Amino acid sequence: MKFVIAIAAVLVAGGIGYTMWPSPPQTNTTDNAISMEGRLLANVILPKTLSQNAQNGKRSFEAKCATCHGVNAAGQDGVAPPLVHKIYEPSHHGDESFQRAVSMGVQAHHWRFGNMPPVEGLTRGDVKMIISYIRELQRSNGIN
Ligand code: HEC
Repeated sequence: MKFVIAIAAVLVAGGIGYTMWPSPPQTNTTDNAISMEGRLLANVILPKTLSQNAQNGKRSFEAKCATCHGVNAAGQDGVAPPLVHKIYEPSHHGDESFQRAVSMGVQAHHWRFGNMPPVEGLTRGDVKMIISYIRELQRSNGIN
């Protein structure tokens, strides 16, 4: 019991310390995006042009994904993470993980936003276009 109280005390002290800590200056680095449920999220640099596929993908993204992942896949406070983020670079989240996310949904594992439900009404081809769009956004933000 003493042990539990000690832990609780540490947690409370930590919590108070945390809330009193001055908030760090917000910079434009996407690393900061990891920090908390979205507040900042990615500061997306838009590519000058998008390929034809990416333009199609953008339309589907805006219709089906942006409600959660935000405009330009920059993420949304308390809702869903930015997809323009190093975590989602091709070597860590290949194209198939996007297909899987859309068709089967995602169990929350990287963040604390909760699960992503499957998204209806998109073919694999549609998702391929969405992936082109995301990859082009990622590339113009130095995520390859
Ligand atoms: C209802 C909200 C919601 C919608 C709509 C949504 N997502 Fe998500 N998505 C999430 C959340 C929340 C996560 C983070 C899960 C986690 O903690 O890793 C996520 C994660 C992902 C991931 C990461 C998958 C992985 O393997 O880690 C991909 C890719 C993704 N979403 C793509 C999409 C695409 C493409 C669309 C549109 C077709 C879309 N999402 C629509 C909420 C949403």
